Amino acid sequence: WSLFLYPEVDSTNAEALRLLSAGALPPFVVLAEAQKAGRGRRGRKWISPVAQNLYYSLAYRITGGFQQLSGLSLVAGLAVMISLRNLGVRQIGLKWPNDIYAGGKKLAGVLLELSGDPADVCYVVIGVGINVNMVSTKEQIDQPWTSLRTELGHLVDRNSVATCLSDTLHSYLQRHTDYGFASIQEEWEREHIWQGRDCVLSTASQQVYGRVVGIDEMGGLRLEVGGVEKSFNSGELSLR
Ligand code: BTN
Repeated sequence: WSLFLYPEVDSTNAEALRLLSAGALPPFVVLAEAQKAGRGRRGRKWISPVAQNLYYSLAYRITGGFQQLSGLSLVAGLAVMISLRNLGVRQIGLKWPNDIYAGGKKLAGVLLELSGDPADVCYVVIGVGINVNMVSTKEQIDQPWTSLRTELGHLVDRNSVATCLSDTLHSYLQRHTDYGFASIQEEWEREHIWQGRDCVLSTASQQVYGRVVGIDEMGGLRLEVGGVEKSFNSGELSLR
């Protein structure tokens, strides 16, 4: 994968999308030392201080149309988690759809953004933010968080994190392309820290109380709600 490296950008996802519009050919990776306007899921900010963490975006071509897209964000989250476990982090797991937690605190997040027409040639930008050496910040972060440094007890080289991440992403994306999401579904469920737990899912229109059953073959969340199993494609999960 070719690499674009910047001292500072607004957002590596935004930069990857601009590069795609300008004709850059995927796969390529955008890395920055700092982000001025790091984006999180659901319109949130991603705090991105200089030289402390990993701000990584992979531009990737999708050939399987919509079908391939549905599970991709979960596959990306799983690959990020596996790469961090390989670096030695323990008690690590996933929260649907693609948050990475260690010891109950958020360690990394994934944000997918699309470019092009999903019915035709379609590119996706897989944005990954990993808290690497950050141990404090003056910024307000709206949930408990941790970093690799906290979890491993020493400073961590961001280059090795990026390399490990690229290797793992590469192999999981390949598996997804070759064998589909079904080949990853079970492994994903095993890593879901909320499997079987009572929770509330906040969607744009409602709050759903249920028990996490698993995920479906498209990557949707399966909840048991009042004795009936239902699938959900979006929402924010919290414990009850
Ligand atoms: C989340 O809300 O959990 C997703 C956070 C994703 C942050 C990463 S940092 C690199 C890439 N560029 C962005 O602007 N966001 C993603």
